[in-house]
Amino acid sequence: MKTIRDINLSGKRVLLRVDFNVPLDDALNVTDDTRIRGVLPTINYALEHNAKIIIASHLGRPKGKPMAEFSLKPAAKVLEKLLGKPVGFVEDCMGDAVSTLVANMQPKDILMLENLRFHPEEEKDDDAFAKTLAELCDVYVNDAFAVSHRKNASVYAVTRHAPVSAAGLLMEKEINYFNQAMKNPKRPLAAVVGGAKVSSKLGALENMLNQVDKIIIGGAMANTFLKSLGVDVGKSKIEEDLVETAKMILEKASGKKVRIYLPVDVVVADRLAPDASSRVVPVQEIPADEMALDIGPASSLLFKEALADTKTIVWNGPMGAFETDIFARGTLEMVSALTESGALTIVGGGDTDVAVHQSGKADQITYISTGGGAFLELLEGKALPGITALEEADQ
Ligand code: 3PG
Repeated sequence: MKTIRDINLSGKRVLLRVDFNVPLDDALNVTDDTRIRGVLPTINYALEHNAKIIIASHLGRPKGKPMAEFSLKPAAKVLEKLLGKPVGFVEDCMGDAVSTLVANMQPKDILMLENLRFHPEEEKDDDAFAKTLAELCDVYVNDAFAVSHRKNASVYAVTRHAPVSAAGLLMEKEINYFNQAMKNPKRPLAAVVGGAKVSSKLGALENMLNQVDKIIIGGAMANTFLKSLGVDVGKSKIEEDLVETAKMILEKASGKKVRIYLPVDVVVADRLAPDASSRVVPVQEIPADEMALDIGPASSLLFKEALADTKTIVWNGPMGAFETDIFARGTLEMVSALTESGALTIVGGGDTDVAVHQSGKADQITYISTGGGAFLELLEGKALPGITALEEADQ
Protein backbone atom coordinates (compact mmCIF):
# COMPACT_ATOMS: atom_id res chain seq x y z
CA MET A 1 0.00 0.00 0.00
CA LYS A 2 1.08 3.56 -0.65
CA THR A 3 2.00 5.73 2.30
CA ILE A 4 1.89 9.50 2.59
CA ARG A 5 5.63 9.54 1.85
CA ASP A 6 5.02 8.21 -1.67
CA ILE A 7 2.90 11.19 -2.67
CA ASN A 8 3.67 14.77 -3.64
CA LEU A 9 1.59 16.82 -1.24
CA SER A 10 2.70 20.31 -2.14
CA GLY A 11 -0.27 22.65 -2.50
CA LYS A 12 -2.60 19.61 -2.50
CA ARG A 13 -5.86 19.28 -0.57
CA VAL A 14 -5.29 16.32 1.72
CA LEU A 15 -8.32 14.67 3.33
CA LEU A 16 -6.88 13.10 6.47
CA ARG A 17 -9.13 10.51 8.14
CA VAL A 18 -8.15 10.22 11.79
CA ASP A 19 -9.73 8.48 14.77
CA PHE A 20 -10.36 11.23 17.29
CA ASN A 21 -12.93 9.06 19.06
CA VAL A 22 -11.56 10.30 22.39
CA PRO A 23 -13.15 10.23 25.84
CA LEU A 24 -14.81 13.47 27.02
CA ASP A 25 -15.86 14.43 30.55
CA ASP A 26 -19.21 16.05 31.44
CA ALA A 27 -17.82 19.51 30.61
CA LEU A 28 -16.78 18.10 27.20
CA ASN A 29 -13.05 18.24 27.91
CA VAL A 30 -10.89 15.59 26.27
CA THR A 31 -9.68 13.33 29.09
CA ASP A 32 -7.18 11.28 27.06
CA ASP A 33 -5.45 12.82 24.05
CA THR A 34 -3.38 9.74 23.07
CA ARG A 35 -5.20 9.30 19.76
CA ILE A 36 -4.74 12.99 18.90
CA ARG A 37 -1.02 12.87 19.71
CA GLY A 38 -0.80 9.71 17.60
CA VAL A 39 -1.46 11.55 14.34
CA LEU A 40 0.83 14.52 15.01
CA PRO A 41 3.69 12.99 12.97
CA THR A 42 1.39 12.69 9.94
CA ILE A 43 0.03 16.22 10.34
CA ASN A 44 3.53 17.64 10.80
CA TYR A 45 4.74 15.73 7.75
CA ALA A 46 1.86 17.15 5.68
CA LEU A 47 2.57 20.66 7.01
CA GLU A 48 6.27 20.37 6.14
CA HIS A 49 5.23 19.39 2.62
CA ASN A 50 2.89 22.37 2.18
CA ALA A 51 -0.36 20.46 2.11
CA LYS A 52 -3.79 21.91 2.83
CA ILE A 53 -5.02 19.59 5.55
CA ILE A 54 -8.69 18.70 5.94
CA ILE A 55 -9.22 16.50 8.98
CA ALA A 56 -12.20 14.15 9.26
CA SER A 57 -13.17 11.86 12.13
CA HIS A 58 -16.03 10.30 14.03
CA LEU A 59 -16.62 10.56 17.76
CA GLY A 60 -18.93 8.30 19.69
CA ARG A 61 -22.09 6.82 18.29
CA PRO A 62 -24.48 9.73 17.56
CA LYS A 63 -26.68 7.50 15.36
CA GLY A 64 -26.69 9.64 12.24
CA LYS A 65 -27.78 13.01 13.62
CA PRO A 66 -26.00 16.05 15.08
CA MET A 67 -25.64 15.88 18.85
CA ALA A 68 -23.66 18.52 20.77
CA GLU A 69 -22.07 15.98 23.12
CA PHE A 70 -20.45 14.24 20.17
CA SER A 71 -19.00 17.36 18.56
CA LEU A 72 -15.36 17.22 17.50
CA LYS A 73 -14.83 20.84 18.54
CA PRO A 74 -13.07 19.86 21.82
CA ALA A 75 -10.72 17.58 19.87
CA ALA A 76 -9.95 20.42 17.42
CA LYS A 77 -9.04 22.66 20.38
CA VAL A 78 -6.66 20.01 21.77
CA LEU A 79 -5.07 19.59 18.35
CA GLU A 80 -4.61 23.35 18.06
CA LYS A 81 -2.82 23.40 21.41
CA LEU A 82 -0.60 20.43 20.57
CA LEU A 83 0.38 21.91 17.20
CA GLY A 84 0.70 25.49 18.45
CA LYS A 85 -1.12 26.53 15.29
CA PRO A 86 -4.70 27.51 14.44
CA VAL A 87 -7.03 24.70 13.45
CA GLY A 88 -10.17 25.87 11.63
CA PHE A 89 -13.43 24.13 12.49
CA VAL A 90 -16.57 23.75 10.41
CA GLU A 91 -19.86 22.54 11.82
CA ASP A 92 -20.53 19.87 9.23
CA CYS A 93 -18.43 17.51 7.17
CA MET A 94 -20.00 18.47 3.84
CA GLY A 95 -22.17 21.13 2.22
CA ASP A 96 -21.62 24.64 0.86
CA ALA A 97 -19.86 26.04 3.94
CA VAL A 98 -17.33 23.19 3.83
CA SER A 99 -16.73 23.52 0.06
CA THR A 100 -16.20 27.28 0.33
CA LEU A 101 -13.78 26.98 3.24
CA VAL A 102 -11.81 24.26 1.46
CA ALA A 103 -11.68 26.29 -1.75
CA ASN A 104 -10.13 29.19 0.17
CA MET A 105 -7.49 27.12 1.98
CA GLN A 106 -3.82 27.97 1.64
CA PRO A 107 -0.93 25.51 1.97
CA LYS A 108 -0.30 24.63 5.64
CA ASP A 109 -3.88 25.55 6.61
CA ILE A 110 -5.71 23.01 8.76
CA LEU A 111 -9.47 22.61 8.76
CA MET A 112 -11.28 20.13 10.96
CA LEU A 113 -14.68 18.85 9.84
CA GLU A 114 -17.51 18.05 12.25
CA ASN A 115 -18.30 14.45 13.22
CA LEU A 116 -18.82 12.24 10.15
CA ARG A 117 -21.34 10.13 12.07
CA PHE A 118 -23.75 13.08 12.24
CA HIS A 119 -24.74 11.69 8.83
CA PRO A 120 -26.22 8.16 8.77
CA GLU A 121 -24.52 7.51 5.41
CA GLU A 122 -21.09 7.32 7.07
CA GLU A 123 -21.74 4.05 8.89
CA LYS A 124 -23.67 2.68 5.90
CA ASP A 125 -20.57 2.99 3.74
CA ASP A 126 -22.75 5.04 1.39
CA ASP A 127 -21.14 5.53 -1.98
CA ALA A 128 -22.58 8.98 -2.77
CA PHE A 129 -21.55 10.25 0.68
CA ALA A 130 -18.04 8.87 0.14
CA LYS A 131 -17.89 10.55 -3.29
CA THR A 132 -18.86 13.93 -1.82
CA LEU A 133 -16.13 13.57 0.81
CA ALA A 134 -13.59 12.54 -1.80
CA GLU A 135 -14.45 15.60 -3.90
CA LEU A 136 -12.97 17.75 -1.13
CA CYS A 137 -9.49 16.40 -1.80
CA ASP A 138 -6.66 15.66 -4.20
CA VAL A 139 -5.19 13.08 -1.83
CA TYR A 140 -6.91 10.87 0.75
CA VAL A 141 -4.82 9.73 3.70
CA ASN A 142 -6.10 7.19 6.21
CA ASP A 143 -4.39 7.48 9.59
CA ALA A 144 -7.36 6.08 11.50
CA PHE A 145 -6.14 2.59 12.33
CA ALA A 146 -8.49 2.40 15.32
CA VAL A 147 -11.58 2.53 13.09
CA SER A 148 -10.21 0.49 10.19
CA HIS A 149 -12.31 -2.52 11.26
CA ARG A 150 -15.45 -0.53 10.38
CA LYS A 151 -16.63 -0.56 6.79
CA ASN A 152 -17.57 3.11 6.95
CA ALA A 153 -17.74 5.50 4.00
CA SER A 154 -14.78 7.60 5.12
CA VAL A 155 -12.49 4.60 5.54
CA TYR A 156 -13.75 2.26 2.81
CA ALA A 157 -15.88 3.59 -0.06
CA VAL A 158 -13.97 6.89 -0.12
CA THR A 159 -10.93 5.16 -1.63
CA ARG A 160 -12.98 4.35 -4.75
CA HIS A 161 -13.40 8.06 -5.45
CA ALA A 162 -10.31 9.82 -4.13
CA PRO A 163 -7.73 10.51 -6.88
CA VAL A 164 -5.00 8.94 -4.71
CA SER A 165 -5.24 7.04 -1.41
CA ALA A 166 -2.47 6.35 1.06
CA ALA A 167 -1.78 5.31 4.65
CA GLY A 168 -0.66 7.88 7.19
CA LEU A 169 2.38 7.40 9.41
CA LEU A 170 0.36 6.12 12.40
CA MET A 171 -1.45 3.58 10.25
CA GLU A 172 1.89 2.45 8.82
CA LYS A 173 3.39 2.13 12.30
CA GLU A 174 0.41 0.15 13.65
CA ILE A 175 0.57 -2.32 10.75
CA ASN A 176 4.35 -2.68 10.95
CA TYR A 177 4.38 -3.40 14.68
CA PHE A 178 1.51 -5.84 14.40
CA ASN A 179 3.25 -7.69 11.59
CA GLN A 180 6.50 -7.74 13.53
CA ALA A 181 4.67 -9.35 16.45
CA MET A 182 2.28 -11.75 14.76
CA LYS A 183 3.42 -12.37 11.18
CA ASN A 184 7.15 -12.60 11.54
CA PRO A 185 7.86 -12.82 15.26
CA LYS A 186 11.03 -13.55 17.10
CA ARG A 187 10.17 -16.61 19.22
CA PRO A 188 9.08 -17.63 21.75
CA LEU A 189 5.96 -15.54 21.07
CA ALA A 190 3.52 -15.16 23.96
CA ALA A 191 0.01 -13.73 24.05
CA VAL A 192 -1.35 -12.34 27.30
CA VAL A 193 -5.14 -12.26 27.19
CA GLY A 194 -7.38 -10.84 29.88
CA GLY A 195 -10.55 -8.86 30.37
CA ALA A 196 -14.02 -9.77 31.45
CA LYS A 197 -15.32 -12.06 28.75
CA VAL A 198 -14.19 -15.19 26.95
CA SER A 199 -16.87 -14.44 24.34
CA SER A 200 -15.18 -11.23 23.19
CA LYS A 201 -11.77 -12.91 22.96
CA LEU A 202 -12.84 -16.25 21.52
CA GLY A 203 -11.91 -15.43 17.92
CA ALA A 204 -8.54 -14.06 19.00
CA LEU A 205 -7.77 -17.08 21.18
CA GLU A 206 -8.65 -19.54 18.41
CA ASN A 207 -6.58 -17.68 15.85
CA MET A 208 -3.64 -17.28 18.17
CA LEU A 209 -3.51 -21.02 18.87
CA ASN A 210 -2.06 -21.29 15.37
CA GLN A 211 0.56 -18.64 15.90
CA VAL A 212 1.85 -18.28 19.44
CA ASP A 213 4.01 -20.49 21.65
CA LYS A 214 2.38 -19.56 24.96
CA ILE A 215 -0.90 -18.02 26.08
CA ILE A 216 -1.37 -16.47 29.50
CA ILE A 217 -5.00 -16.08 30.51
CA GLY A 218 -6.03 -13.71 33.29
CA GLY A 219 -8.91 -11.40 34.17
CA ALA A 220 -12.47 -12.57 34.77
CA MET A 221 -12.31 -14.68 31.60
CA ALA A 222 -9.85 -16.99 33.38
CA ASN A 223 -12.71 -18.04 35.69
CA THR A 224 -14.50 -19.77 32.83
CA PHE A 225 -11.30 -21.67 31.97
CA LEU A 226 -10.79 -22.65 35.63
CA LYS A 227 -14.38 -23.84 35.81
CA SER A 228 -13.82 -25.98 32.71
CA LEU A 229 -11.07 -27.75 34.66
CA GLY A 230 -13.46 -28.50 37.48
CA VAL A 231 -12.41 -25.65 39.78
CA ASP A 232 -15.23 -24.24 41.88
CA VAL A 233 -15.01 -20.47 41.33
CA GLY A 234 -17.66 -19.41 43.85
CA LYS A 235 -19.53 -16.23 42.90
CA SER A 236 -16.93 -15.26 40.29
CA LYS A 237 -18.13 -13.99 36.93
CA ILE A 238 -18.22 -16.81 34.41
CA GLU A 239 -19.83 -17.51 31.07
CA GLU A 240 -21.62 -20.78 31.74
CA ASP A 241 -22.35 -21.36 28.05
CA LEU A 242 -18.66 -21.13 27.20
CA VAL A 243 -17.29 -23.56 29.75
CA GLU A 244 -17.23 -26.36 27.16
CA THR A 245 -15.63 -24.05 24.60
CA ALA A 246 -12.96 -23.09 27.12
CA LYS A 247 -12.24 -26.78 27.67
CA MET A 248 -11.97 -27.30 23.93
CA ILE A 249 -9.51 -24.41 23.62
CA LEU A 250 -7.34 -25.96 26.33
CA GLU A 251 -7.43 -29.31 24.51
CA LYS A 252 -6.64 -27.74 21.16
CA ALA A 253 -3.75 -25.87 22.73
CA SER A 254 -2.28 -29.03 24.15
CA GLY A 255 -2.63 -30.72 20.73
CA LYS A 256 -0.76 -27.85 19.12
CA LYS A 257 1.84 -27.73 21.89
CA VAL A 258 0.84 -24.20 22.82
CA ARG A 259 1.45 -23.77 26.54
CA ILE A 260 -1.42 -22.23 28.46
CA TYR A 261 -0.97 -20.55 31.83
CA LEU A 262 -3.94 -19.91 34.12
CA PRO A 263 -3.98 -18.17 37.50
CA VAL A 264 -3.00 -20.36 40.47
CA ASP A 265 -4.19 -17.87 43.07
CA VAL A 266 -6.64 -14.96 43.03
CA VAL A 267 -7.70 -11.95 45.05
CA VAL A 268 -11.24 -12.56 46.30
CA ALA A 269 -13.88 -10.31 47.88
CA ASP A 270 -17.61 -10.52 48.40
CA ARG A 271 -18.18 -7.56 46.07
CA LEU A 272 -16.44 -5.28 43.61
CA ALA A 273 -16.03 -2.10 45.68
CA PRO A 274 -13.06 0.00 46.86
CA ASP A 275 -13.89 -0.70 50.52
CA ALA A 276 -14.51 -4.44 50.11
CA SER A 277 -12.38 -6.66 52.31
CA SER A 278 -10.15 -8.72 50.05
CA ARG A 279 -7.63 -11.52 50.48
CA VAL A 280 -5.56 -13.90 48.42
CA VAL A 281 -6.54 -17.55 48.10
CA PRO A 282 -5.41 -20.48 45.91
CA VAL A 283 -7.89 -20.94 43.04
CA GLN A 284 -8.90 -24.26 44.61
CA GLU A 285 -10.11 -22.37 47.69
CA ILE A 286 -12.33 -19.63 46.29
CA PRO A 287 -15.13 -19.39 48.89
CA ALA A 288 -18.63 -20.16 47.62
CA ASP A 289 -19.89 -16.65 48.51
CA GLU A 290 -16.93 -14.66 47.16
CA MET A 291 -15.60 -13.76 43.73
CA ALA A 292 -12.18 -13.55 42.10
CA LEU A 293 -11.41 -9.94 41.13
CA ASP A 294 -7.69 -10.04 40.40
CA ILE A 295 -4.92 -12.58 39.94
CA GLY A 296 -2.86 -13.24 43.05
CA PRO A 297 0.90 -12.75 43.67
CA ALA A 298 1.77 -16.40 42.94
CA SER A 299 0.06 -16.08 39.54
CA SER A 300 1.94 -12.84 38.85
CA LEU A 301 5.20 -14.63 39.61
CA LEU A 302 4.25 -17.63 37.48
CA PHE A 303 3.29 -15.38 34.55
CA LYS A 304 6.50 -13.37 34.93
CA GLU A 305 8.56 -16.57 34.81
CA ALA A 306 6.61 -17.78 31.77
CA LEU A 307 7.36 -14.51 29.98
CA ALA A 308 11.02 -14.29 31.01
CA ASP A 309 12.39 -16.22 28.01
CA THR A 310 10.03 -14.80 25.38
CA LYS A 311 11.21 -12.58 22.56
CA THR A 312 7.79 -11.20 21.59
CA ILE A 313 4.72 -10.52 23.74
CA VAL A 314 1.30 -9.30 22.63
CA TRP A 315 -1.04 -8.21 25.43
CA ASN A 316 -4.77 -7.50 25.30
CA GLY A 317 -7.02 -7.22 28.36
CA PRO A 318 -6.37 -6.51 32.06
CA MET A 319 -5.68 -9.21 34.67
CA GLY A 320 -8.35 -7.99 37.08
CA ALA A 321 -10.78 -5.19 37.95
CA PHE A 322 -7.85 -2.74 37.86
CA GLU A 323 -10.04 0.41 37.92
CA THR A 324 -10.49 -0.37 41.63
CA ASP A 325 -7.12 0.07 43.41
CA ILE A 326 -7.33 -3.02 45.58
CA PHE A 327 -7.76 -5.18 42.47
CA ALA A 328 -5.16 -3.44 40.28
CA ARG A 329 -1.99 -5.16 41.47
CA GLY A 330 -2.12 -8.13 39.07
CA THR A 331 -2.50 -5.88 36.03
CA LEU A 332 0.28 -3.53 37.16
CA GLU A 333 2.54 -6.55 37.85
CA MET A 334 1.84 -7.70 34.32
CA VAL A 335 3.15 -4.37 32.99
CA SER A 336 6.37 -5.06 34.93
CA ALA A 337 6.51 -8.61 33.61
CA LEU A 338 6.42 -7.19 30.08
CA THR A 339 8.96 -4.44 30.69
CA GLU A 340 11.36 -6.78 32.50
CA SER A 341 11.16 -9.53 29.87
CA GLY A 342 13.39 -7.71 27.39
CA ALA A 343 10.98 -8.89 24.66
CA LEU A 344 9.38 -6.82 21.93
CA THR A 345 6.13 -5.85 23.63
CA ILE A 346 2.93 -4.80 21.89
CA VAL A 347 -0.12 -3.75 23.87
CA GLY A 348 -3.57 -3.11 22.43
CA GLY A 349 -7.13 -2.53 23.57
CA GLY A 350 -8.60 0.45 25.39
CA ASP A 351 -8.49 -0.93 28.96
CA THR A 352 -5.02 -2.36 28.63
CA ASP A 353 -3.74 0.94 27.31
CA VAL A 354 -5.24 2.77 30.31
CA ALA A 355 -3.63 0.27 32.72
CA VAL A 356 -0.22 0.65 31.12
CA HIS A 357 -0.42 4.44 31.38
CA GLN A 358 -1.58 4.13 34.99
CA SER A 359 1.55 2.07 35.75
CA GLY A 360 3.81 4.96 34.67
CA LYS A 361 5.80 2.53 32.50
CA ALA A 362 4.16 3.22 29.14
CA ASP A 363 7.48 4.44 27.72
CA GLN A 364 9.04 1.02 28.41
CA ILE A 365 6.53 -0.82 26.22
CA THR A 366 7.71 -1.20 22.62
CA TYR A 367 4.38 -0.18 21.10
CA ILE A 368 0.94 0.69 22.46
CA SER A 369 -1.68 0.41 19.75
CA THR A 370 -4.33 3.12 19.44
CA GLY A 371 -6.77 0.40 18.39
CA GLY A 372 -9.34 -1.32 20.58
CA GLY A 373 -11.72 -3.30 18.37
CA ALA A 374 -9.39 -2.94 15.39
CA PHE A 375 -6.46 -4.44 17.29
CA LEU A 376 -8.62 -7.33 18.48
CA GLU A 377 -9.85 -8.04 14.94
CA LEU A 378 -6.24 -8.22 13.75
CA LEU A 379 -5.57 -10.74 16.53
CA GLU A 380 -8.58 -12.67 15.24
CA GLY A 381 -6.79 -12.91 11.90
CA LYS A 382 -9.39 -10.79 10.11
CA ALA A 383 -8.63 -8.45 7.21
CA LEU A 384 -9.63 -4.91 8.22
CA PRO A 385 -11.74 -3.08 5.59
CA GLY A 386 -9.82 0.19 6.05
CA ILE A 387 -6.53 -1.55 5.33
CA THR A 388 -7.93 -3.65 2.48
CA ALA A 389 -9.30 -0.49 0.86
CA LEU A 390 -5.83 1.11 0.90
CA GLU A 391 -4.25 -2.02 -0.57
CA GLU A 392 -6.86 -2.24 -3.31
CA ALA A 393 -6.56 1.44 -4.11
CA ASP A 394 -2.89 0.87 -4.85
CA GLN A 395 -3.51 -1.83 -7.47
C1 3PG B 1 -12.91 2.66 18.60
O1 3PG B 1 -12.81 3.46 19.53
O2 3PG B 1 -12.77 1.43 18.76
C2 3PG B 1 -13.17 3.19 17.23
O3 3PG B 1 -13.15 4.57 17.22
C3 3PG B 1 -14.43 2.64 16.64
O4 3PG B 1 -15.55 3.10 17.31
P1 3PG B 1 -16.95 2.33 17.17
O5 3PG B 1 -16.80 1.06 17.97
O6 3PG B 1 -17.98 3.26 17.72
O7 3PG B 1 -17.16 2.02 15.73
